[in-house]
Amino acid sequence: MATKKLQIPSLGLGTNKVGGHNLFDNLKDEDGYAVVRKALDSGIELLDTAYMYGKGRSEEIIGDVIQDYDRSKIIIATKAAQDPNNNLELNNSPEFLKQSVDDALKRLKTDYIDIFYIHFPDEATPKYEAVAALNELKQAGKIRAIGVSNFSLDQIKEANRDGLVDIVEDNYSLVHRDAEKTLLPYLKEQNIAFVPYFPLASGLLTGKYSLSDHDKFKQFSDGEFKSIMDALDEVKVIGKKHDATVAQTILAWYIADPDISTVIPGARLEKQVVSNAGSMKVQLSQAEFDKINSLFEGF
Ligand SMILES: NC(=O)c1ccc[n+]([C@@H]2O[C@H](COP(=O)([O-])OP(=O)(O)OC[C@H]3O[C@@H](n4cnc5c(N)ncnc54)[C@H](OP(=O)(O)O)[C@@H]3O)[C@@H](O)[C@H]2O)c1
Repeated sequence: MATKKLQIPSLGLGTNKVGGHNLFDNLKDEDGYAVVRKALDSGIELLDTAYMYGKGRSEEIIGDVIQDYDRSKIIIATKAAQDPNNNLELNNSPEFLKQSVDDALKRLKTDYIDIFYIHFPDEATPKYEAVAALNELKQAGKIRAIGVSNFSLDQIKEANRDGLVDIVEDNYSLVHRDAEKTLLPYLKEQNIAFVPYFPLASGLLTGKYSLSDHDKFKQFSDGEFKSIMDALDEVKVIGKKHDATVAQTILAWYIADPDISTVIPGARLEKQVVSNAGSMKVQLSQAEFDKINSLFEGF
């Protein structure tokens, strides 16, 4: 039987817009530094990064900032799979993962990584072999928890053959709920922690968009987009009772969900982090939690 589920803070900071120049336009390093600092100053104690965010730049910025803070109070999660020496081809081989952890430790300027994820599955490596390599690093104290990301259920099962997977990160939000059926029953059974990425659906669930912005979210049909907008109007009403914004109310919903270990909204600007940190103070009643759940049923 699996061990107890990993205990981590309920709110973190997603840092793909911290130094992630290869993924997003118009990012400034100075904003990245400010975002990470502001998160830590606002009581956010988990930072989710990856080699792929700026090909190491996000990790470097975080490494610089944490020098001024108590390392023991910060949970750092990072990821690797894209091979910098082979055109970013996916690689889960034991040698690659071990080298990736050493490289990330240098960029983060720390001597351990709290959570290390295999960012994406490759096609060649048996998943239990990849995880066994991470277990060696865990025994050596270089990493503290073993994670996988973007794995199918079958790949997670293969990775967890020996019960060594601690945590899974996958695409999940109120408007992208497949994981409830595909992954969560197995993760719950195995006591594996779950971290959704894109919790704000890349900003859509902050309430800052309107019907005329549909062209930015083409994955939704006209009808779906309209029902998301209508649902967000109702979330706004619930939020008002808590003096909370739409984004804070949505984040509070994930925080209240026992199946979610931590929620890691990304931020481009300091003011977004400050606002998102406010979600930790929003306590939804069971009726409000259920209402928000039902508003987005069917996605
Ligand atoms: N494992 C993986 O493969 C994987 C994949 C994707 C992401 N992730 C992780 O998950 C994290 C979250 O995903 P994400 O950041 O892409 O998407 P997200 O959390 O759904 O959306 C974040 C974006 O919404 C906007 N935003 C955030 N707070 C706001 C606020 N209070 N008011 C207005 N706008 C706000 C910002 O973008 P704008 O200002 O540009 O609108 C921000 O970058 C990432 O940072 C990363 O750490 C992991």
